[in-house]
Amino acid sequence: MDEILIKGGKRLCGEVRISGAKNSALPILASTILGSGECVITNVPRVVDVLTMGKLLGILGAKVSHEANRAVIQTGMIECTEAPYDLVKTMRASVLVLGPLLARWGEAKVSLPGGCAIGSRPVNLHLAGLAKLGADISIDHGYITAKATRLRGGRIYCDTPTVTGTENLMMAASLAEGTTVLENAAKEPEILDLADFLIKRGARIHGAGTDVITVEGVRELHGGDHEVIPDRIEAGTYLAAAAITRGDVTVTHCRPGHLEAVLMKMREAGAEIQEEKDTVRLTMPNGLRGTDVRTLPFPGFPTDMQAQMAALMSLAEGTSVVTETVFESRFMHVEELRRMGAHIRVEGNRLVVTGCKKLTGAPVMASDLRASAGLIVAGLAAEGATQVQRVYHLDRGYERIEEKLGALGASIQRQPAGAVH
Ligand code: EPZ
Repeated sequence: MDEILIKGGKRLCGEVRISGAKNSALPILASTILGSGECVITNVPRVVDVLTMGKLLGILGAKVSHEANRAVIQTGMIECTEAPYDLVKTMRASVLVLGPLLARWGEAKVSLPGGCAIGSRPVNLHLAGLAKLGADISIDHGYITAKATRLRGGRIYCDTPTVTGTENLMMAASLAEGTTVLENAAKEPEILDLADFLIKRGARIHGAGTDVITVEGVRELHGGDHEVIPDRIEAGTYLAAAAITRGDVTVTHCRPGHLEAVLMKMREAGAEIQEEKDTVRLTMPNGLRGTDVRTLPFPGFPTDMQAQMAALMSLAEGTSVVTETVFESRFMHVEELRRMGAHIRVEGNRLVVTGCKKLTGAPVMASDLRASAGLIVAGLAAEGATQVQRVYHLDRGYERIEEKLGALGASIQRQPAGAVH
């Protein structure tokens, strides 16, 4: 297990290129199951979760070649419709093959993903929606089994906007007989990106990106090419790193329009931000000011930026309240930030962060992808050395993070766990 060693206190300056969005690449790769033509996907981030999805498609029988940031997938020869526990337990997003397998092959057996560090993460809305499309769903021995000769269109209302639930149901509905209406759908940009790819391949989808999505089913989708949208959470993470080190950083190849809530909060915290077509430049002329943050489904402030914001507010003037409304326990970073000197009180689903003058470096433990990102952000500004352990969590969603931060002037290196520093 590697760890990342950061010597804090360096101002980050320069440009950083944002990679493709992990949470868009994952459903897009899964959607290749829906047709037999070749799909060429570019701007694919080279992160562990995407490699895991490629492995899963391979287990199902697809031909997957993935070099640099380009993936070529052929799924005509899929003969297996089972996603095994050993793989699903490493990546919950494996559940995204459920809808496509069921829609294309009439059956699917996918291990229940189980919980994770940020909550119980049920998939009941995925299953209820597929049942509404005529699937027979059963759960035994930890596996979901879904069967349907051919799915038929229906009206689905999701009790809560679910990102992968909306993606699974939109993919399943693409091959159902008749029309499906998905109400209270999630509106994240990654859903719109998936819909764009499906439409290129012959799907008939309207309203993706709004809370009502209509899908007219077709028999099969053909292949297609697609460039994955930039990763808005990676962009937000580098902007938080720039803000906490009072640097001057331009993130390039990004979509400012996907970051509105984050940019607004950064401005409230004292950042000066210039937005261009596909770049955002952040400078921090004065000190950080405390501000309140409440995570919400898109277009609200993203829950995947909550830990990074908590780290930022730890050094801001005044008191900030960070409220997590999407997941029930997404505060694994708090104990570790406290070890670095942060003054954070947990009150239910709220953090009360009292800004302090400085953070001090310490050995800290990563627990999940975005909590780890929050610890990296804190370590960049802390006095002394911070050793972030179990960085495999980070590698799931950040491409070459130490290289990109190093190029901005951070003193950061990856080393085997326990190396003397
Ligand atoms: C997606 O997870 C993202 N993952 C998460 O990013 C992100 O944090 C989350 O959306 C929220 O934006 C991918 O896209 C691969 P949800 P997802 O279903 O789809 C409840 C990262 O760091 N719910 O939108 O699993 C659920 O418990 C990851 O990149 C049900 O109750 O999240 C949660 O409270 C972490 N039943 C809320 O909905 C269901 O069937 C939103 O979850 C499904 C969800």
